[in-house]
Amino acid sequence: MQRTLLDRIDQVADDVVSLALRGADGPLAPWEPGAHVDLALPNWLTRQYSLCGDPADRATYRVAVRYDPLSRGGSEYIHRFLRPGRPLDVSLPRNHFPLLPAPRYLFLAGGIGITPVLPMLRAATAAGRPASLVYAGPSAATMPFADELRSAYGDAVRIVATRQHGRPDFGTLAAGLEPGTLVYCCGPASMLAAAEAAFPAGQLRTERFQPAPKVFAPATAFEAACARSGRTVQVDADESLLDALNHAGHSVPSGCREGVCGSCEVTVLDGEVEHRDDIGAPEGRMFACVSRALSPRLVLDL
Ligand code: FES
Repeated sequence: MQRTLLDRIDQVADDVVSLALRGADGPLAPWEPGAHVDLALPNWLTRQYSLCGDPADRATYRVAVRYDPLSRGGSEYIHRFLRPGRPLDVSLPRNHFPLLPAPRYLFLAGGIGITPVLPMLRAATAAGRPASLVYAGPSAATMPFADELRSAYGDAVRIVATRQHGRPDFGTLAAGLEPGTLVYCCGPASMLAAAEAAFPAGQLRTERFQPAPKVFAPATAFEAACARSGRTVQVDADESLLDALNHAGHSVPSGCREGVCGSCEVTVLDGEVEHRDDIGAPEGRMFACVSRALSPRLVLDL
């Protein structure tokens, strides 16, 4: 964790605030466009937010938070109670949505999904790559950073107020896509589904804030053998590997508990894993909050 102080909190759209978090102990850890951090809130909740500032600014991280009326306590706390000057712990940045090299880019963002796209668009443009953005939201007033984007990128940015103009037609965009264009999409589930239906899978990268609905084999009990501690932990059919490990005294960190943030990654030395996350676990790793064993036993590097 890195210690920060909440330097500023600014209203950047209806129901969206931007937080500027200044490193309390000097420069903050470096990051690349697409990265996110876990924010440890004073009400004991941990929430994940994409970094939307400038990676060259090592003094400050910027994140933006939309108030969610169905909030499980994170966005509500931030909007109602956080004030400048508050110390906040922030994790090291993680990046499951990196900007890969490509001759040109098309970015698609919906609502608060603009946050990881801001530094991506800036980096692609700075690298001299043709890059355009289609940014959709119910109305201009609900869309953070729309004015900043318009003045920085002019015609390369198309702002679509969907209540007035309807959703952007991804089929038309896909038909006109120049060869080699890499498409990045971040937004609500309906937008990701529309992008997945319109663009070839090899050209599309998406980031989810919520897990995609999936069907898995029924959960069964299994054993987790922890190679370093020598302990074997029983994981019941109705509990997660994360909870079982933590109850047994292994402190495995967690954030979303939904397989989208990557905080709870553990190394698997042996056994067959059913990956249930939305990140794509690297070879030999699993996300303990949602993923389980298909074999009766897993051996973990814990
Ligand atoms: S806690 Fe977020 S992926 Fe497991």
